[in-house]
Amino acid sequence: MNQKPLGRVSHVGVAAAAVVLGLGLVLGSNSAHAMLFAKGNADLGAKLHAKTCASCHNSMMPDGKGEELYSEDFRKVTDAGGLKTMVQFCATRTNSGWFDEELEHVARYLNDNFYKFKK
Ligand code: HEC
Repeated sequence: MNQKPLGRVSHVGVAAAAVVLGLGLVLGSNSAHAMLFAKGNADLGAKLHAKTCASCHNSMMPDGKGEELYSEDFRKVTDAGGLKTMVQFCATRTNSGWFDEELEHVARYLNDNFYKFKK
């Protein structure tokens, strides 16, 4: 009795499959990120970044959204090594006084949330 038109059913099926596949990719890539900056804690990194880094980057972007600097459209950094180098470069220039521990936290935060490098 409850029959739907065939075309519609298969459409939903395809969409559901795509969602499942997408989820699998997201989960899979997350665990891959965990290997990079393994000593870093992304939550601590987010706090450090908000306190020391965000305002200057925000002021650089026309719409005030400094995170766009990390997007594929703007970024210059192309791998995890380059990311760590830029974090260190900016941290030093900002006189943050951060040790490698803090650099790792922030690199982890940036990679998990924006760059998503696997190596
Ligand atoms: C006084 C301003 C200023 C502060 C503060 C600052 N940055 Fe930057 N940051 C820049 C500028 C300017 C660039 C772009 C440099 C370039 O593209 O040559 C940049 C670029 C970067 C990039 C590379 C973006 C990319 O992929 O091209 C990262 C990563 C970064 N900053 C991290 C940080 C971190 C982490 C902090 C906090 C410790 C920080 N920045 C604080 C000015 C700042």
